[in-house]
Amino acid sequence: MSVASKVATLAWYLRRPSLYGELFRRVRAMRVSTSNSVEKAKREKVEGQRWCEQQVVPAARLLESLQLPTATPAIETLHPTEWAEAHAAVNACPVKMGGPANLEVLYHLCRGMKVERVVETGVANGWSTLAVLLALRANGEGRLASVDMPYAKMNNEAWVGCAVPQALRDRWTLIRKPDRDGLPEAIAALGTLDLAHYDSDKSYEDRMFGYHLLWAALRPGGLLLSDDIEDNSAYADFAKEVSRPTWVLPKKPGNYAGVLIK
Ligand SMILES: C[S@@+](CC[C@H](N)C(=O)[O-])C[C@H]1O[C@@H](n2cnc3c(N)ncnc32)[C@H](O)[C@@H]1O
Repeated sequence: MSVASKVATLAWYLRRPSLYGELFRRVRAMRVSTSNSVEKAKREKVEGQRWCEQQVVPAARLLESLQLPTATPAIETLHPTEWAEAHAAVNACPVKMGGPANLEVLYHLCRGMKVERVVETGVANGWSTLAVLLALRANGEGRLASVDMPYAKMNNEAWVGCAVPQALRDRWTLIRKPDRDGLPEAIAALGTLDLAHYDSDKSYEDRMFGYHLLWAALRPGGLLLSDDIEDNSAYADFAKEVSRPTWVLPKKPGNYAGVLIK
């Protein structure tokens, strides 16, 4: 990152007092970042990729093991009006944000497991938020608390969650904070969770922070889903640590989502 870019990032944070804690954490992390840690990150990415390639199974295997229907009709087919509105809203959004998670699996797990209390990290346009809220409405009850801190300098605050129509927002709380501050708040608001979806900061340390907090809040039999798990070995290490059944599901070539059952 050039000096000018670093100064612009610093100025962006300084204009947002609610993010001072995150700024401090990031500056401290930069100071301890060495060539060793860069090498370590590269090794972890290779390990993460390899582990996912060895473990990957079709989503139907997970659904079968949970005794749920293996057919996963597209959300677009089940909720065409909301889907079309979401696309129109995202197309009108002037900033490009992070891509969607594994929406069909997320939706059908929320439906099949009849979840009521859900926490997610990482909203961006709000595709995963939309999937969960549509499922909760179809279930007839439930709440979602989402945590999202916009990417520095993107100036996309006004557009976070733009895919979520007004009619679905009564079940939703959006906490506009970094995970380190917002996740404890989201969990405190909902109590014991049925399902947690992690799709925010992809670093090893932040994943581990989020996974541990979410895992502790899940009920026995609850589900921890995580996106882009091939980025590093955090998900693989966490799965080994908790030693519970895990599924690695394909998203795109070389791109995977993980599901752990508590
Ligand atoms: C990949 S996008 C989420 C996509 C979303 N789940 C979906 O399916 O549409 C990641 C989001 O996480 C946010 N984010 C990144 N780091 C974060 C952190 N430390 N705390 C909270 N949010 C963060 C980003 O600003 C971005 O909005």
